[in-house]
Amino acid sequence: MAKFDQTRFFQVKPAIYYGMNALDTLGTLDLTHVCIVTDAGMVKFGILKKITDVLDKYGITYDVFDDVQPDPTTDIVQKGLVNLMLKKPQALIALGGGSSIDSAKAIIYYGNAIRKMFSGSDVYQKPYFIALPTTAGTGSEVTEYAVITDPVRNTKIPLTDPQMLPDAAILDPRLIESVPAGATAATGMDVLTHAVEAYSSTNNNPFARCYAAKAAELVFKSLYDAYEDAHDLNAKASMQIASCMAGIAFNSSGLGITHSLAHAIGSQWHLPHGLANAIVLPYVVLFNGQDPYTSSVYGRLLSAMGILNISGNAPQMLMRSIEMLNREMNIPKSLQAAGIDEADYMENRGAIIGKAMNDVCTKTNPISPSIEQMLMVLDNVYYGTKNIEPEME
Ligand SMILES: NC(=O)c1ccc[n+]([C@@H]2O[C@H](COP(=O)([O-])OP(=O)(O)OC[C@H]3O[C@@H](n4cnc5c(N)ncnc54)[C@H](O)[C@@H]3O)[C@@H](O)[C@H]2O)c1
Ligand SMILES: [Zn+2]
Repeated sequence: MAKFDQTRFFQVKPAIYYGMNALDTLGTLDLTHVCIVTDAGMVKFGILKKITDVLDKYGITYDVFDDVQPDPTTDIVQKGLVNLMLKKPQALIALGGGSSIDSAKAIIYYGNAIRKMFSGSDVYQKPYFIALPTTAGTGSEVTEYAVITDPVRNTKIPLTDPQMLPDAAILDPRLIESVPAGATAATGMDVLTHAVEAYSSTNNNPFARCYAAKAAELVFKSLYDAYEDAHDLNAKASMQIASCMAGIAFNSSGLGITHSLAHAIGSQWHLPHGLANAIVLPYVVLFNGQDPYTSSVYGRLLSAMGILNISGNAPQMLMRSIEMLNREMNIPKSLQAAGIDEADYMENRGAIIGKAMNDVCTKTNPISPSIEQMLMVLDNVYYGTKNIEPEME
């Protein structure tokens, strides 16, 4: 329910440049010396070269830190921070998927903390921060969040700070052309999860819902095409916009327990973030949809997306639409089907529930779940079953 009984805040930031050749915008941003935070894949796929060609063309000098790994750890951030402090660039470019963008954000975050500690001043002097996403998934280019992994406790650490919000985001479809089909599917389902969870979160608001609904509509229109034909740049551009819009939505409204479970599952079994979300989302929609208000919210989302609710049961319809998209893109329907051994599952089930219950995203889920309810959802996700609580049927 929209809450107008108190002052609330919504802003759209950063400046977003999008569409073919958006990359050339780099030449117009008054850059002199930049540090690029990226991963080895960007070098391998020739994406880094696309950026350095533009920088060379405009006489902008650069250093490259390409040590980022998927699901970046605190060690990587530490290394990147030393690099930033030595090079002192005027601007920082994050080039890559959520892992590179989140690493750059964490470098800024800890760099600021250290500067404050030594200078005693609250005045912040971060480099101009530009995000160039190379996946259409996390929306990290427009959020003030970063997710970093603590390798010792095998846990994802969420960081939140408005200072981590980029100053500019550049969405050029050529940057996501080389994403393999499986990763296009997984990252695209991350977008849909952001949209569905932002739309139905307890912290939703009319601005976030508007962006979330449009993002979900674009996913259903374009994701399969982007998956099937990597060179369909219209579909890819559309997914970049969807990803960005879903990021704007959840930056303001928060997420839900699909993300809480996906964070814990992802760090336990090293499943890509988008894939974990894709597998979990249908079961969470079924669970949350037991609540009559959330069921009506899902109904509104379906009509905003232009999906005809033929069954009259919005949670079932939304769940089936998500399952169909997953199936078309060969996403497994359960953790068991994804190859996770049952004994391994049983051994780690309790720890996963503990992490998911404490995840920040659980706070904004439309139903505040009990441990037993979270366990029931997780068992459904593992076995591919559709159990729901008898009293809520
Ligand atoms: N900050 C946020 O708001 C937010 C939101 C959701 C997820 N996340 C985090 O983002 C991370 C996941 O990011 P992701 O899904 O974008 O994947 P990723 O950044 O981890 O990249 C996955 C792999 O894809 C490769 N890749 C990326 N772009 C490519 C391209 N154009 N061509 C070929 N290969 C390419 C990378 O080199 C890497 O090996 C997780 O750590 C997750 O927790 C952050
Ligand atoms: Zn996500």
